[in-house]
Amino acid sequence: MSEFEPKIVAFCCNFCAFAAADLAGAMRLQYSHSVRIIRLPCTGKVDTIHLLKALEDGADGVFVAGCLEGQCHYLEGNLRAKKRVAYAKRLLAEAGIAPERIDMFNLSSAMGGRFAEIVEEMTERITKLGPVYTAKDL
Ligand code: FES
Repeated sequence: MSEFEPKIVAFCCNFCAFAAADLAGAMRLQYSHSVRIIRLPCTGKVDTIHLLKALEDGADGVFVAGCLEGQCHYLEGNLRAKKRVAYAKRLLAEAGIAPERIDMFNLSSAMGGRFAEIVEEMTERITKLGPVYTAKDL
């Protein structure tokens, strides 16, 4: 039997989290290849449906990574994303799915190491939870 390898979707703000991911690569930091990055102009563009649809379409975990609070280039985009992530977590809990599958992180463009840590943290968490859908669900 093959070992479970989670698929994680990361919605990353162009200015901070995506730049941090880029920096992690430039620093040659090792992190799990489980993550698929979607680059956004700001996390304020993420809607709750995007987070849930990612899980429905095969992701085992999803995270949103944006600028530090108070440093969003569009002023409140990351605060809006924070509310949407919280709402998506509530919906998951109501559906009987672990809300820990969705999370939000804030970081600056200089935090390449932190980006790598976040990927590792999410990969470990989702690996423990297992896949969203098991064979009996299909
Ligand atoms: Fe980065 Fe808004 S510009 S979260």
